[in-house]
Amino acid sequence: MFHPFDVEQFLSELEHGVKYNYSESGVHPMTLRELVDLVGLEPDVLWNTMLDYPQVNGSTFLREKISAMYPGTNADNVLVTVGATEANTLIANTLLQPGDSMVAFRPIYEQLTGDARNRGVDVRYVDMEADNGWAIDPEAVMAAVGPTTKLIHVINPNNPTGRVLSNREREGIIAAAASVGAWIVADEVYIGTERDTDEATPSFWGAYDKVMVLNSTSKAYGLPGLRLGWLVGPADAITACWRRHEYASVATSTVSMKLAEAALAEPARTALVERARRLIRTGFETLTEALAVHHNIFTVAPPHASAMSFVRFNLPIDSETLAMRLVREQDVLVIPGSRFHVENHFRFSSALPEAHLKEGLRRLNLVVEDVLKSA
Ligand SMILES: Cc1ncc(COP(=O)(O)O)c(C=O)c1O
Repeated sequence: MFHPFDVEQFLSELEHGVKYNYSESGVHPMTLRELVDLVGLEPDVLWNTMLDYPQVNGSTFLREKISAMYPGTNADNVLVTVGATEANTLIANTLLQPGDSMVAFRPIYEQLTGDARNRGVDVRYVDMEADNGWAIDPEAVMAAVGPTTKLIHVINPNNPTGRVLSNREREGIIAAAASVGAWIVADEVYIGTERDTDEATPSFWGAYDKVMVLNSTSKAYGLPGLRLGWLVGPADAITACWRRHEYASVATSTVSMKLAEAALAEPARTALVERARRLIRTGFETLTEALAVHHNIFTVAPPHASAMSFVRFNLPIDSETLAMRLVREQDVLVIPGSRFHVENHFRFSSALPEAHLKEGLRRLNLVVEDVLKSA
């Protein structure tokens, strides 16, 4: 049986044409001109780029730039992919076989888990504790692994909650993986988007010997349209993913590689991350102020990182109905919690220009008032 990717289906069917879109997970994206100005790229570098097939596993220069972020690696430990999306698919196709099992934490962005389920893999979910700021119980992780567990999948910082794992949780996950020799696949696309600290979330890279890390230019760098991601891991596992990459996409685009080379070079990289954090911090304040207008209706475990808040609501309406009323009546798009298997929540992205954000929140509150009136 085919399992559709619920969140992405909701987005791809509804997000184009909507005026107040708070359903994306990244920060407000940049124009090509803003990027070229910020990174100080000579426009001629772009005009003279040959639109040939690029180096399939990623240009050596780009892979070296990426490997510099992961101690002890070189360019052979890196594969450049079409976003983190392709990286997840390659992981599923390379590390998992039908009949295997894997462990993941819910609520979660269901890409790797969906790919795995479509491959006949048994996905065992450990629920994060909603009333405990979405914490993970390390004993539950240990109880979930077994002889067929091939990998533990973490998204850190998490989508949709923005939570960063504590040291105790990280150690519990590593101990559980080590107890059965499983891989840890760490999706780290939200590293760099920290809201409450200037310290980047530590990578899983180097914490354990069987780790595959994936990341992309989409979130902390605000460049989702480049469709450029990467996988970092032991060289033999990266080569095995590269063989699947030749089937899946051949390569990401030449122009994207050129722009990513410039974006990931200092001081551009730091400037992009600082821009993302600025938008995230002010956006979250605007969101919480707007939601505080109603008493005892909304609660949010403040996200440690990411542009997203997973907002709990106390209203006599289910999350899918609320989301559909918002889009039909007010041209406002949020993702219903049902798409993450959690009711009475919606996911809201707030790292956006202030005026646009405020107007959408005003409209959201109009629908909420109407729901309360007719209750
Ligand atoms: C946790 C996570 N991983 C991967 C992706 C895919 O990102 P991209 O393909 O744009 O790099 C997303 C996008 O929302 C995400 O939230």
